Formats: sequence, structure tokens, C-alpha cells
Amino acid sequence: MSENVSDTVKTWNASVLTLFPDAFPGILSQSIIGAAQKNRIWALETVDIRNFAANKHRNVDDTPAGGGPGMVIKPDIAAAAIDSVAPMGRPIIYMTPRGTPLTQKRVRELAAGPGLIVFCGRFEGLDQRVIEARQMEEVSIGDFVLAGGEIAAQAMLEACVRLLPGVLGDACSAEQESFEDGLLEYPLYTRPREWEGRNIPEVLLSGDHKKIASWQTEQKEEITKARRPDLYKAYLDRAKNTKGDNHEHD
Ligand code: ADE
Repeated sequence: MSENVSDTVKTWNASVLTLFPDAFPGILSQSIIGAAQKNRIWALETVDIRNFAANKHRNVDDTPAGGGPGMVIKPDIAAAAIDSVAPMGRPIIYMTPRGTPLTQKRVRELAAGPGLIVFCGRFEGLDQRVIEARQMEEVSIGDFVLAGGEIAAQAMLEACVRLLPGVLGDACSAEQESFEDGLLEYPLYTRPREWEGRNIPEVLLSGDHKKIASWQTEQKEEITKARRPDLYKAYLDRAKNTKGDNHEHD
């Protein structure tokens, strides 16, 4: 009998609206994410925004009101593309560098829902009225500017899909990794024991699991403190609050 996750779990549905449908599935067809699509854990629908252009030149954009550089995607065309997909109670996300930065917390929330409708911008941007009228959530994947939202959409979708039940082989690996406890990952080593004169830290070869765990925690704290003082501060604040809670129950 074939085991199919879709027998028991509902498929997570992604609809991507883009001017470059050939860019999909892109990396999402590979590895565990691609396998999960074959297993119907998630499904991808790609919609070409240009199909909703009204004129024979298939124009989707126009010059910005008030002047300025670049072009703006027209609200009627964007809305027609959005309205062509079944809502299914899904949030409509607009990928843009001026969006709210994506976090692992938001990724977990999105993965727990029915799926996503993702609008990929190009040109200077999208008419503000359609963002408001369709209650789009503006999301950025970082403080840098891509040429369009397609790579950003794939990054966000990959982050969501890998959290869906049945996608990661080892149930532990999603919980132990960076950000799940608010700290960055400790350094990893594998054989050979010595490579180019560099040794695997002795403690990792000791077989003392308690000592190994505390070394790994120390490393996580040190790396986070150096690279992400913002995360480290939040981690310390959480630790302080948990201590306080414990005292209350004493
Ligand atoms: N489109 C262009 N740059 C982007 C970014 N950093 N995040 C999301 N969408 C984008």
C-alpha cells in the first residue's frame, strides 16, 4: 500500500503571481521541497500577470503619478490576477524590499495556515490602492534590493514548505537549528579528524554528551553575541524572564 501524506493531511497551496512564470518552480523543484511537491504535501500554481493586461501590447505598467523614475504595475491588472486565484483563506503577500522583514516566527505561522498567494513585483513597484484593497501583506527577505520578487518568493516558500509535516526526514532538525531557540548554530565538524593541520575540537571526540551539549551552547551564545547582538539581547531578556517566572512559582 502506498503511503501518501495527502491521505491524512491537507495540501498546502501556493499560488504565485509573476511576470516571469518560467522562473518557477526554480529551486523549489529540487531536493526535499521538490519531493514534497510530488508527494502532494504542497502544490504550486503559477499565474502570469501579463495574461490580465487589457491592451494588445500587453502592458502591465505605467509611469508613476507625480513623476519619478521607473514604472508602476497597474492596480486593475494586479487585482485581476489576484482575483483569478481561489482565495482558500490564504494571506496575499507582496514581495517588496519595503515590506516587514520575514522572520522564522512569521514563517512558522504561514506554514501552519492553508498556504499563500504571493505577488512578485518588478519595476518600481505596485499601485498602493491594490495593496490596500486586497489587504496585501508586504514582506521583505532582507535589507537589500533584488531586481524582482521571484527569488524572494522562492526563499519564503522554501522556508515555509520545509516546516510542513513530512518534509524534513529528521523530526528534530527543524527544532534544533538556528532561530528556533533564538540563537545561531554552533560550528559543525566531520571526518577527517585532522585536515590541513586543523583538528576537530577535542570535546567533540570525548563521548561525554553533557560536556558536548554545554560546549555547543557556549559556542551558540558566543557566535550570536558577536554576529547578532540584537538576537543575543532578546535571548538574555527571555532567559531573565523565565527565571522570574520560576521564582513566582517557587
Ligand atoms: N523585491 C526586491 N527586493 C526584495 C527584497 N529584499 N525582499 C522581498 N522582495 C523584494
